Amino acid sequence: MAGLGRGDLPPRLRTPVPGPRSRALSRALARHAAPGINTLPAGGGPTLVWDEARGANVLDVDGNRFVDLTSGFGVAALGHRPPAVVAAVCRQAGRLVHGLGDVHAHPLRAELAARLAVLVPVDEPRIYFAISGGDAVEIALKTALLATGRRRIVAFAPSYHGLTLGALALTSRPAFRSPFAAHLSPEVVRLPYACPPAELAALLAGEPPVAAAVVEPVVGREGILVPPPGWLAEIAAACRARGTLLVADEILTAFGRTGTRFAVDADGVRPDLLCCGKALAGGLPLAAVAGQRELMAAWERGGEALHTATFVAHPLACAAALAALPRLASPALLTRVRRLGAAVGRRLAGWPERFAAVAAVRGRGLLWGVEMRSAAAAEAAVAAARDRGVLWLAGGPEGRVAQILPPLTIAERQLAGALDRLEGALAASGGARA
Ligand SMILES: Cc1ncc(COP(=O)(O)O)c(C=O)c1O
Repeated sequence: MAGLGRGDLPPRLRTPVPGPRSRALSRALARHAAPGINTLPAGGGPTLVWDEARGANVLDVDGNRFVDLTSGFGVAALGHRPPAVVAAVCRQAGRLVHGLGDVHAHPLRAELAARLAVLVPVDEPRIYFAISGGDAVEIALKTALLATGRRRIVAFAPSYHGLTLGALALTSRPAFRSPFAAHLSPEVVRLPYACPPAELAALLAGEPPVAAAVVEPVVGREGILVPPPGWLAEIAAACRARGTLLVADEILTAFGRTGTRFAVDADGVRPDLLCCGKALAGGLPLAAVAGQRELMAAWERGGEALHTATFVAHPLACAAALAALPRLASPALLTRVRRLGAAVGRRLAGWPERFAAVAAVRGRGLLWGVEMRSAAAAEAAVAAARDRGVLWLAGGPEGRVAQILPPLTIAERQLAGALDRLEGALAASGGARA
């Protein structure tokens, strides 16, 4: 069709967005797909329907080309459809598409576990594969409960850890939690994100003892919050003093997003359990928990696996991850993220002065949040950017934080051009200051 080249092209719109084919397909979604997950905005308006993606470009079914500053929720760290990943998946598809989960292995599963074990900042790690981020968080939680015999968990606000029932107990946003409030377990005590470490230490000193503290080293979906330097190291020390496990939820941040291989690396922290996913398999669904050997031994009970899924360690996803990891783990990529991230930071620093709707900006590496003064302003900025061919999303507890997380491989000119368009969108939607 229109051709996306290497995915390093500027936006080009052919129709108003969403175009006629997107609108027709939206009607089909409205008729047949379940509400809530059918991608249609509240009130049932049309959605944008993606047809193709490559690098940092997305092409919709009407031939409109966008620059994707969402990385598809942080998955496309190497861009959409990285050639090495596509080639590996095709090769694997000619051999073994589906295996026997937790009963029989396949070679790539062994290879990937070994590869991950040397990358993760966890002592003597053992790898537990998962299907999704939420699944990985469930595994980390269950590991902590099994290994410590304790039942209380500490989580932070804001935080996002997924929406399956166990993970939802940790996730802070009331809108996600309240419909299920009566059914949430385990017992979670919540502290403000980046609270004084002494607050955590005091809580951990009390009764009952706490199994684990679960933390995003940089808060993602719930508003992009970077803790002060040293905070993670201090909470790690507070946990260690009380035999509480530190679980780093790096589903979004692992593999370079914040300019270090893992976000905990910025503070030199080695968590007891670390969850990763999203970027891991270059676009295929795969996540993993790395946990210290003696903790993971808690799963060794004989009989059937206590936590598993039909598609666990899927051969295509393992092939994709093995193809993605050499680049995801490369020092050159991290250097690039830090350089581009610093440039983005310099540029965004002027936005609160320039745009009346922007209250604050913050971030690290290629993960940035633009906090708007209201959810309506954030929504307007997202819509105005889409009408200029740039995709970004708003998140945070009140939907006020528009988020910039491009592929780590985005072309510099393409990124600069997308930021130009975001500035145009902010000026048009919220008004530039005089
Ligand atoms: C930090 C974090 N943890 C967990 C999850 C849940 O991952 P998934 O949507 O793959 O279940 C997400 C998803 O955005 C996340 O950002």
